Amino acid sequence: MAPTIPPLKDKSLLIDRAFVNSQWVPSESGKTFEVTDPSTGVVVGTCPECDVSDTEAAIDAAANAFKTFRATTARQRSDMLRKWHQLMLDNAEDLAILITMENGKPLADARGEVKYASDFLLWFAEEAPRIYGSTIPASVGGKRILTVKEPIGVCGLITPWNFPAAMVTRKAAPAIAAGCTVVVKAPGETPLSSLALAELARRAGIPAGVFNIVTTLENTPAVGNALCTHPKVKKVSFTGSTAVGKLLMKQSSDTLKKLSMELGGNSPFIVFDDADLDAAVEGALMSKFRSSGQTCVCANRIYVQRGILPAFGKKFVERVRRYKLGSGFDPSATHGPLIHARAVDKVDSHVRDAEAKGAQIALGGHRMTTDADPGRQGGRGGHFYPLTVLLDATPEMLVAREETFGPVAALFPFETEQEVLAMANASEVGLAGYFFSRDVQRCWRVAEAMEVGMVGINTGIISDPASPFGGVKQSGFGREGSALGIDEYLTVKSMTFGGVEVRP
Ligand code: SIN
Repeated sequence: MAPTIPPLKDKSLLIDRAFVNSQWVPSESGKTFEVTDPSTGVVVGTCPECDVSDTEAAIDAAANAFKTFRATTARQRSDMLRKWHQLMLDNAEDLAILITMENGKPLADARGEVKYASDFLLWFAEEAPRIYGSTIPASVGGKRILTVKEPIGVCGLITPWNFPAAMVTRKAAPAIAAGCTVVVKAPGETPLSSLALAELARRAGIPAGVFNIVTTLENTPAVGNALCTHPKVKKVSFTGSTAVGKLLMKQSSDTLKKLSMELGGNSPFIVFDDADLDAAVEGALMSKFRSSGQTCVCANRIYVQRGILPAFGKKFVERVRRYKLGSGFDPSATHGPLIHARAVDKVDSHVRDAEAKGAQIALGGHRMTTDADPGRQGGRGGHFYPLTVLLDATPEMLVAREETFGPVAALFPFETEQEVLAMANASEVGLAGYFFSRDVQRCWRVAEAMEVGMVGINTGIISDPASPFGGVKQSGFGREGSALGIDEYLTVKSMTFGGVEVRP
C-alpha cells in the first residue's frame, strides 16, 4: 500500500482556482485539469485550465495594480515580503506536504525547499530598501547627472515543476521588492504549491492585482505566448529548457521585453586525484541525486581522474546502493519518482544509448516493471526509475551530450587537467560546474577556465539565495537571487540637470 498523504492542518491551502486580482476564479471556459501524485498516479487536486482570455484578465489586473503599487515605499514592500516569509514558516509543514503531493520529492526535501523558498522572500525584503541610484560627474560644466532605478512594470513569471515553491519566490520576491506586479504561469504538473503561496501572499497584505496566478496544463504554449506578446507585460522571467527559452525569446521580440532566461544545463563534475575522496563522493551524490536528478544544476557528467577512479567508483556505488526509492510520504524513502512518464522514457533512452556504446551498468539501469516497484503500489502507477550508476562513459554518449534530468550518474575517466577541461567545456550550455581538488593553484585555474555561470569548488551544493544563480552560453542570461537579482526587475533612469551655476 502507498503511504497515506498526511492531512493539511489548514485545509484552505489546498486550492482549486486561479488567483486574479486577489479573487479565486475558475477559468472562463470552466475547463479544469487534474494534478496527480507522481509516485502513484493518484489525483490530488484539480485546477482551472486557463487560456489566453484568463491570462489577459490577469495581465490587466497586474497593469492596473502597478499604477499604485509602483508608488509604495520600499519599506512598505519590505514589510509585506517579511509577513509573507513569516506566513510561509508558520505553514511550512502544509506547504511541504503540497510539494510532495504534486512533485513527489521526499517530505524531508520538500521541507528543505520550503525553507529555501521562504529565504528568497526574506532576502528580497532586505534588498527592497537598498535600491540605490548614483551620482555621476558630468563631462561638461554646469551639469549634474544622477540615476534612479524604477520598477519595470508588469512581469510574466513562468516557473518550472521541479521546485514548485522556490522558483515562484525566487522570481516574485525581487519583482515585488522592486515595485513590479506579476502574473505567474504555474507549471501544469505542480500548480498547488503556487496557489497556496498566493493565499499566503493575500494574508500578508500584498495588494490586489500585485501577485496573480494562472494555471494550465494543455494551454501552456498559448498562455506562455500571451505573456510574451502582450504589450502591457514589460518583462518575462522563465526557468525551463533551452528549446522553450528560445521560443519565448522569439515571441518576446516584437514588444522588446526585458528577459531573464534560466535554461538547461549539462553540469560537469570533476574529481581530481588530489581530491579528498570522501568529500568528493558526498559532493557528487548531493549534486547528482538531488530531487532524483531533476534540477538544472545536477551533475550530469562525472569526470574522475584515472588514479582515483577505482576507489571513487567503489565508494560511490556503495553509497547509492543504500538509498531507497519510494513515495515522498514514506519516511524510509530517500529519493522519489520522476515527474512523468516522458521523463522516465528519456532517462531510459540515455541508459540504453550508453549501454549500446559500451558503458557498464554498475547499478540500476532498467525500467521497474514488477509488482514490488514502489510506483505500482496503489493508484495508476508511479514514474520511478532506479538510481543508476554507469561506468566507462564516453563523450559520444547521450549522457554526455544532453541533460539527462534523472537519476543516472555517468562516470567518465580522464587523464589530465587539460583534457578534462576540454571535455567539460565541450557543451553549448554552461549553467553550473563542480570540481574537487586540494591544490589551491589548480582551484583558481580550473574555476576560471570553466565555461559556466556557477562553479562549486569542493562542494556539490551551490544553491543559496545569497549567491547569483544563472548561466552562460545557451544556459541563458540574467541572475536570480543575490544582490543582482532585483536589477532584473528595474530600469535605470538618468537625470541630467543643466544650468547649474557654480559660485566661486
Ligand atoms: C533549478 O533546477 O532550476 C533550480 C535549482 C536550484 O535552485 O538549486
